[in-house]
Amino acid sequence: MTKTIALLGATGKVGGWILDEAMRKKIKTRALVRKPDAIGEYIKDNPELLVAVKGSSTDKQALKELINGVVVVICALGSPNHSTLVMKSSAEALVSVLESDDLECSPRVIWISTIGVNEATSQARKYGVSASCCPSCSLCCGYGLFGCMLFSCIIPGIVGKNLWADMGYAEDVIRKSSVASRTVLVRPTNMEPAESHRAFTKEWKEEGEKYGNEAYLTRTADDPPPNMWITRKAIAAFFLDCVDDEQYDGKAVSLFQGP
Ligand SMILES: NC(=O)c1ccc[n+]([C@@H]2O[C@H](COP(=O)([O-])OP(=O)(O)OC[C@H]3O[C@@H](n4cnc5c(N)ncnc54)[C@H](OP(=O)(O)O)[C@@H]3O)[C@@H](O)[C@H]2O)c1
Repeated sequence: MTKTIALLGATGKVGGWILDEAMRKKIKTRALVRKPDAIGEYIKDNPELLVAVKGSSTDKQALKELINGVVVVICALGSPNHSTLVMKSSAEALVSVLESDDLECSPRVIWISTIGVNEATSQARKYGVSASCCPSCSLCCGYGLFGCMLFSCIIPGIVGKNLWADMGYAEDVIRKSSVASRTVLVRPTNMEPAESHRAFTKEWKEEGEKYGNEAYLTRTADDPPPNMWITRKAIAAFFLDCVDDEQYDGKAVSLFQGP
């Protein structure tokens, strides 16, 4: 297989699975990493498949070096916290490089986003395990006023609001660009393992523990969510399937665990 992909976020949890799967499928990969040593073992095991390009995803020069000659750019970036947001600035840098006249290729983009942003906001609201205490919002997960405050105010306000907003802004940057028609916006639901989501309910944890495979389900933002979980392995499988499958180009896809 001669095609080459570029990968952003190879040292992350989703990106790690993508890298793993890309090596298994013998896909030539150029990974943009801030610390090349972090993927040193992969490079040692796959010297003909994997190249590390050192740099930040907000650095246009590094992105340019990364991208030349690739057919697809996969983004599995993540912000470590709400004071170091990375998605919007990375999207701006990537779009700027992809739109520049001197780039000698026009790669497709597969970009990680999240459920709960833009038109997929109402889809995430359907997650409530019990809507009985608050039929209008359903985000309390059966925990009444406490759940309502936790899921509607505390978590979005302190932990995740800016992260979600950052994801939404990044989507907007891409959608307004000439790259939009060749980009898949991937919106996974809550990722396994459950222990990384300590605020979640027992029901959500139990549902997550049922799964462990790499099967995924795709949905539009208008569809009801089929479940509340997805493994990072399943997300990686979708990303790699999109390398050959262009059916989701120009679209946003909500992603859930498959059976
Ligand atoms: N958890 C959920 O339920 C959920 C649901 C939907 C979507 N998501 C989103 O999915 C994405 C991936 O999740 P994850 O768990 O794989 O995240 P993660 O483990 O935190 O990985 C983040 C990756 O981004 C890289 N990165 C961050 N800033 C960078 C920069 N300036 N330049 C280059 N690389 C940079 C990190 O590199 P370093 O190793 O150098 O730090 C790391 O490889 C995140 O954006 C997350 O918000 C999560």
